[in-house]
Amino acid sequence: HALVRPGGLWREIRVVEETGSTNVDLADLAREGAEPGLVLVAEAQTSGRGRMGRTWSAPPRSGLAFSVLLPQEESVTRLGWLPLVAGIAVVSALRGFAEVEGVGRGRMAEAALKWPNDVLIGDRKLAGILAQRVETGVVVGIGLNVSLRADELPVPTATSLAIEEAPADRDPLLRAILRALEARHEELRTGGESPLREAYRAMCATLGRRVRVELPDGSTLIGEAVDVEEAGRLVVRADDGEHLLNAGDVVHVR
Ligand code: BTN
Repeated sequence: HALVRPGGLWREIRVVEETGSTNVDLADLAREGAEPGLVLVAEAQTSGRGRMGRTWSAPPRSGLAFSVLLPQEESVTRLGWLPLVAGIAVVSALRGFAEVEGVGRGRMAEAALKWPNDVLIGDRKLAGILAQRVETGVVVGIGLNVSLRADELPVPTATSLAIEEAPADRDPLLRAILRALEARHEELRTGGESPLREAYRAMCATLGRRVRVELPDGSTLIGEAVDVEEAGRLVVRADDGEHLLNAGDVVHVR
C-alpha cells in the first residue's frame, strides 16, 4: 500500500468485514502491543461509539468507519490538539477532493468544522470523530457518511456525500483522509499547534456564531464563539466576560 512507506506514520492498514466498533478493537489491539501507525477499517460497523454517549452505526459499504492508532504525545497541548487535527484532516481531504474533481462534487467543498470536531455540510453532520487515550497512544476514530440515502440516515440532522450531490468512492476518500492526517500530524509534531490553529480557525463554522452551551454543572451559557485558543478550547464571549470551553461541554449553534 502506497500509504505505508518507510519513515511514514502509517505502518499497516487492516480491513475487516464487520465489527462492533473499530475504536474498541483498536484500543484492544494497542493493549495487546500493536504499534502506533496501525489503521483499522471496517466495511460495516454495528455498534460504533461517538462522543458524549452517542452511537455511530455504518451499514455495509455505505460509509467510512475506521480508527487509527497515533503515537503517544508528551505535550498536553499537542495531545489536546489531536482530535482537532483529525477534523482538519477530514475537511482538507474533502476540500482537496472537490478541487481536483471540480464539477460533480456538489457541496463537498463546503465541508466545515463544528467545534470541536464534527464535520458539517451546511448545518448537517457528515462525519464524526472520537479520540480516546490508551496507554501506548491515542485511538482516533472517524465515521463519515458516504452513500447513505436520506431514508437511511440515523438522525434527521445528519447528511451524506450522496445527499449533498457529491458521490465519492470510499477507497480514494479513505486514502485522501489518511494522507491529510499524516501531513497534519507531522505539522503538529514539527511546527506545534500554532499553524494548525490558523488552519482550524479558517475551517471552523462555529466561530462568529451565537451559541448556547450546556455546562457540566447544569447551567447554560449564551454568547458568541469568538476564537479557539492555544489548547484547542473554544472561547465564548458572554455578557459577563469570556469563557473557555472544553470538548466535553455541549455546544448548540443558534
Ligand atoms: C461523534 O460524532 O460523536 C463521533 C463518532 C465517531 C464514529 C467513528 S466510526 C469509526 C470509529 N469507531 C467507533 O466506534 N467510533 C468511531
